[in-house]
Formats: sequence, structure tokens, C-alpha cells
Amino acid sequence: MNINIIDHPLIQHKLTLMRDQETSTRTFRALVNEVAMLLCYEVTRDLPLSTRSIQTPMETMNAPVLAGKKLCFVSVLRAGNGLLDGMLTLVPSARVGHVGLYRDHDTLEAVEYYYKVPQDISERLVVAVDPMLATANSAIAAVTRLKQGGAKNLRFLCLLAAPEGVKAFNEAHPDVALYTASVDRQLNDKGYILPGLGDAGDRIYGTK
Ligand code: PRP
Ligand code: URA
Repeated sequence: MNINIIDHPLIQHKLTLMRDQETSTRTFRALVNEVAMLLCYEVTRDLPLSTRSIQTPMETMNAPVLAGKKLCFVSVLRAGNGLLDGMLTLVPSARVGHVGLYRDHDTLEAVEYYYKVPQDISERLVVAVDPMLATANSAIAAVTRLKQGGAKNLRFLCLLAAPEGVKAFNEAHPDVALYTASVDRQLNDKGYILPGLGDAGDRIYGTK
């Protein structure tokens, strides 16, 4: 399985606050932002470095800098935008793409309504972000679309995943590493993650 579980204590603590149904929209949104920064730290942990000659006040040195083209973050709308802001705080120069998808509530299939990514996406490491991977229909559709658009080097970052979704995603895109803070117990009969945190978009934006 191509999966990385990011179980840093700070993330687990914040995730518990997010799961709690008593947590307000305002606090939930702030927590998504904080967790996004911690997740971003881990998903970028192995980025290649090169060196650049600089002059410190003391002497010259060959100092490490990120190698290659800048990263591209892709938000799977709408809940992905909650993670995007925190990630851009850590990597302000990243390029940004958007894939608009919603789940049809009856079929649980992903329906695309928007797509816009940087033209040179094939030359960048692409990190697609969405807080929830439930059936994985949305994640699979987003990654399939990004590959059709030229992306070659992809990672998928979420906050919570269901075991059913992890399996489906790995089968559909074995080349794309999955990063998540937790693999929860199961899906319910409506495709929601248990114990989960409810509908991520509704909780970030207060739409329910
Ligand atoms: C949620 C979530 C994922 C999707 C996960 O989005 O943000 O995109 O469901 O479910 P899946 O793995 O079964 O596809 P939703 O469709 O509710 O849209 P929203 O982000 O606009 O609220
Ligand atoms: N989408 C969500 O926002 N939450 C779930 O539990 C499943 C899909």
C-alpha cells in the first residue's frame, strides 16, 4: 500500500477537536488551517535539494535550496480550499490548481464542474488536497483528471480516510502516494466516514 500515516501528536490532538461536534465553525476552520501546515511539513519532507552559493556575514557557503520547479498544490473544491490556505502559508510560492467535484448523493459518483491548473503541471510535483477520502471516487476522479492534464508526479493529501477508500485509491492509482492523518474504521451506508468528522465542507463553511 502506497500510504503514509502522519500521526504526529499535535495533529492527533487537533483532529480530536475537529471531530467533536461541539466545535464551532470558526474553531473548526482555524484547526483545518493549523493541521494543513503540519501535514504540509510532512508531505514535503523528502523534497530534493540543490545548493546555491551565498555570502553570510561571515563567509561564503554552498547553502541548500529546494531543487527544480516550484510545487503545485491542487485543491479539490470545495473542502480542499480549507487545507490549501495553510499549505500556502508554508510554501507561499507554490502554484495552485483547482478541480471542482461534488459527490452525487445517490450514486456517490464524483461529478466535475471546474478544472483549472498551471500550464506546466507536467514539470511540477503536484500535491492534490482534500480533507476527506471516503469512497475515494472524488480523489480517483481528481487524480485521473490531473493525469489527463499532464501531471506525472503526484501525491494526494487528506485529513481522514476510510479503509475502503484507501484500497480503491491504491488500486486505481498505485503510483500516487497517499498521505493522511488517520485511517478511520469504515464507511456508513451513505458513504460517510465513521467515526469521521461529518461533512468537511459544511463544517468548514458552516453551510449546515
Ligand atoms: C466531500 C469531500 C471529498 C468527498 C469525499 O466533498 O470534500 O471531496 O466528499 O468523498 P468520496 O471519497 O466518497 O468521493 P463533497 O462532495 O461533499 O463536496 P464539497 O467539498 O463541495 O462539500
Ligand atoms: N465527505 C465528507 O465530507 N465526509 C465524509 O465523511 C465523507 C465524504
